[in-house]
Amino acid sequence: MAPSTLTALAEEKTLQANFIRDEDERPKAEICKKIVGACEDWGVFQIVDHGVDAKLVSDMTRLAKEFFALPSEDKLRFDMSGGKKGGFIVSSHLQGEVVQDWREIVTYFSHPLKNRDYSRWPDKPEGWMEVTKEYSEKLMGLACKLLEVLSEAMGLEKEALTKACVDMDQKVVVNFYPKCPQPDLTLGLKRHTDPGTITLLLQDQVGGLQATRDNGKTWITVQPVESAFVVNLGDHGHYLSNGRFKNADHQAVVNSDCSRMSIATFQNPAPKATVYPLKIREGEKPILEEPITFAEMYRRKMSKDLELARLKKLAK
Ligand code: SIN
Ligand code: FE2
Repeated sequence: MAPSTLTALAEEKTLQANFIRDEDERPKAEICKKIVGACEDWGVFQIVDHGVDAKLVSDMTRLAKEFFALPSEDKLRFDMSGGKKGGFIVSSHLQGEVVQDWREIVTYFSHPLKNRDYSRWPDKPEGWMEVTKEYSEKLMGLACKLLEVLSEAMGLEKEALTKACVDMDQKVVVNFYPKCPQPDLTLGLKRHTDPGTITLLLQDQVGGLQATRDNGKTWITVQPVESAFVVNLGDHGHYLSNGRFKNADHQAVVNSDCSRMSIATFQNPAPKATVYPLKIREGEKPILEEPITFAEMYRRKMSKDLELARLKKLAK
């Protein structure tokens, strides 16, 4: 991996460190310490010079922007409303009385390979398919390297977190947030934590991603850094570390001046993978009562969200 710089989110200050390997090709101890510290404090940080080729990153950004600029009929050939797995959807704008997320998305499943349904991957713009395949591979490699650092910090073998995912799932969601005449009335993507293990987000230079660690009292904007990936830990990473690593609480805002684009690559455990802390440190209690599958963890998360939405509606 090429030398890298890590920018951890930490109130006013920006942590920087070179992600340089030592003579045994391991990331240097002080860099690992900063990654681990950022995961303990926020569950989110930025990494640059990460070893993913800059040309691949810029091709991916360009093609994704070109996709959203296609005429609607081209995008709607991949319409995924009605429960199709992968494709294009306008998740956004006013739907009846309810303000939904202000975004369009295109999504596809890239790992394991048996989940790749190329009939749901857009075939336009030209070159998209090749670039997205390579991008998925490279990001899977980077995610696994980051998980190695966290596994070792937990005192486990370096493959421990990856192995706990069984057959790691990877899903890519490309978000396009159109400019919004009244940004104060909506959000590009409402507040949430990612359910999976680790997410790598590429955002353009517009900015709109925000994170909180005081339950939404203060939101810190993750300033866009050219070619950087924002690394987010999800609920699975949080549970496996028995809460030591935070599941980043985040949202995306929109603005009235220009549209914004981001590409989220989610690395998730297989649905049948077990969710339970891999390590419980002395004096700690397990944050889960019993081992459950990732599918069950996800089901519980969704039903909790629905219940919260129902209570909010009743309180109005
Ligand atoms: C996400 O949380 O999946 C995307 C956030 C963003 O667009 O910045
Ligand atoms: Fe997210």
